[in-house]
Amino acid sequence: MNLPSRVKLVEVGPRDGLQNEKQAVPAAVKIELVQRLQDAGLKEIEVTSFVSPKWVPQMADNAEVMAGIARKSGVRYSVLTPNLQGFEAALKSKPDEIVVFGAASEAFSRKNINCSIAESIERFAPVVQAARAAGIYVRGAMSCTVGCPYEGEVAPERVGYLAGLMKGIGVQHVGVADTIGVGTPIKVQRALEATLQHFDINDVSGHFHDTYGQALANTLATLQMGVWQFDTSVAGLGGCPYAKGATGNVASEDVVYLLHGMGVATGIDLDKLIDAGAFISEFLQRKSGSRVAAAMLAKRNS
Ligand code: HMG
Ligand code: MG
Repeated sequence: MNLPSRVKLVEVGPRDGLQNEKQAVPAAVKIELVQRLQDAGLKEIEVTSFVSPKWVPQMADNAEVMAGIARKSGVRYSVLTPNLQGFEAALKSKPDEIVVFGAASEAFSRKNINCSIAESIERFAPVVQAARAAGIYVRGAMSCTVGCPYEGEVAPERVGYLAGLMKGIGVQHVGVADTIGVGTPIKVQRALEATLQHFDINDVSGHFHDTYGQALANTLATLQMGVWQFDTSVAGLGGCPYAKGATGNVASEDVVYLLHGMGVATGIDLDKLIDAGAFISEFLQRKSGSRVAAAMLAKRNS
């Protein structure tokens, strides 16, 4: 099997993981989660998003969370910014990376960010320009690259089209997201192939929700294509408020177990990651979405 020797995981639990939670999660809990994740060896953490608090109330404490985290050298902290207003607010928090987020499906673009794909690119362009001028790395997230909750199956050509637009405005890296977790390995590979027409293999990542239980298979299928960067979420938390029915991201613990089991390095301490997942699951009063965490916690307690 042709696999990379090392993989970079971007922990999206504090952002994607919590954004859809109905109960208010205090900033102090989010800050402690970030602390625990960096202590576990995560080097990239998506902390929050500078979106409208009317649209996503859970992320309204974005500046407080960014101000409260104890930054560790060697760790990069990213935030989502949908427009210049969000970017300008984010700038004060000194993120290492910002994320503009678009969709391969027209209907999802409208539901999630209230504009068409073309309009989203017009909005992102000045954000990308301002971020790059400020020396901030720019990632693009591409939602619904396999399926859309409103339009159904999404053709790879739509993904290629969006990737080309993102490239055209200076986005440096794109994440290929299966927002609603409907993808299976070959479909996800097609979405990646379409993206690779515009971005180098070193500038793409996978972001797989696990609604249909396919995310680990999709991770392996894209690893075999040479993809070595993935967004994952501790305890398998996650979901987008505008993608009805979608559940969490692939659990970070499960991906780390998969990779370490195949001899692929991540730099992450799985035991500490499981502790971080147990911390947030306990706060949410919810069973962890990670099968590996459940198995290893049961073993610890036996
Ligand atoms: P809009 O209503 O069209 O915005 O929303 P607007 O420009 O017309 O402004 C309306 C109001 O929003 C104004 O306030 C603005 O000040 C305010 P008012 O005058 O009514 O009091 N506003 C903002 N406030 C704070 N921060 C901002 C901001 N912008 C405007 N940045 C907007 C457009 C994009 C803002 C809105 O649709 C929005 O916030 N959407 C975000 C939705 C979201 O966060 N979704 C989840 C993240 S994406 C995701 O999870 C997918 C991903 O994980 C990949 C995958 O799995 O697919 C990344
Ligand atoms: Mg997501």
